[in-house]
Amino acid sequence: MRGPFLIYVCSNQSEFGLPEVSVPIDEQREANRQSWDARARIHAESRFYDLASYIRDPAHLSDTVRFDRTELGDVSGKSLLHLQCHIGTDTISWARLGATVTGTDLSPVSIEQARKLSADSGTPARFEVAELYDTPDVINEKFDIVCTGVGALVWLPDIRGWAQVVSRMLKPGGVFYVRDGHPMAGAVDNGRKDDQLIVTAPYFERSEGTRYEGTGTYADGPELPDKVDYEWNHGLGEIVTSLIDADLRIEFLHEHQFGEWHAFPEMQKDNDGYWRFPENRDHMPLMFSLRATKELS
Ligand SMILES: C[S@@+](CC[C@H](N)C(=O)[O-])C[C@H]1O[C@@H](n2cnc3c(N)ncnc32)[C@H](O)[C@@H]1O
Repeated sequence: MRGPFLIYVCSNQSEFGLPEVSVPIDEQREANRQSWDARARIHAESRFYDLASYIRDPAHLSDTVRFDRTELGDVSGKSLLHLQCHIGTDTISWARLGATVTGTDLSPVSIEQARKLSADSGTPARFEVAELYDTPDVINEKFDIVCTGVGALVWLPDIRGWAQVVSRMLKPGGVFYVRDGHPMAGAVDNGRKDDQLIVTAPYFERSEGTRYEGTGTYADGPELPDKVDYEWNHGLGEIVTSLIDADLRIEFLHEHQFGEWHAFPEMQKDNDGYWRFPENRDHMPLMFSLRATKELS
């Protein structure tokens, strides 16, 4: 997730004209795991994730799922796999809507926090540590629904490999749903003081991850120890085509003018909890959502 850069201290090697250094993919993944382990500890204590609400109120749902249920539809009685589940707030919310849920994530600390939330809130859920591309080796099951999003895809180097994993985890006729940051918003400079939208980061997928350094995260709480993250943008066409090539039939692709985080200085938080540009400046999509069905044969 890029941002909010207002509180992030980031440096992007290419932006500063430094030569891009080729870092082995395992090293990039290990840096991201360390970064997410550190974030998970802070996020579990944050007002942003507000875990106490899930424990206090058995009907409490995450803001993410309150929106996503309107697009994904009824999940009751269905088996649901939530990829990149972080500390489990969305996964627990799907369970509360009647699904039998499994959440997976690269970060062992995230999974530990998610299991604790399940136990403390009395909401049954299964959580397993799994690097995204290893999911079929870790979870020996196929699901009615696979879902993911809100800061997930930028952490993955290969969108075609991701789509193959989604497809392998679905039963024939099963449904896939994703809502995530729009790749256009990921390519535009979000550190400008004026109101110009200028593309400075890659829109299309590149094998080399973009390196960020910093001590911030998007939730409230103490600063993180110095960390390095690697992120990859993926063009909308690359995302959609990779799913079609993995035997998924696209039902809709929506582009949204709201975001879930303060990605650009001009954005304002509305009463519904979403961030938007002022009305006359909302020229760019901030999120996309997509639902697809796995072909029967
Ligand atoms: C922004 S969070 C997910 C967002 C979720 N909607 C939330 O806010 O709870 C991104 C998650 O992706 C996970 N992640 C990053 N790289 C991954 C990878 N290669 N495989 C599996 N999970 C990964 C991180 O550990 C983190 O928990």
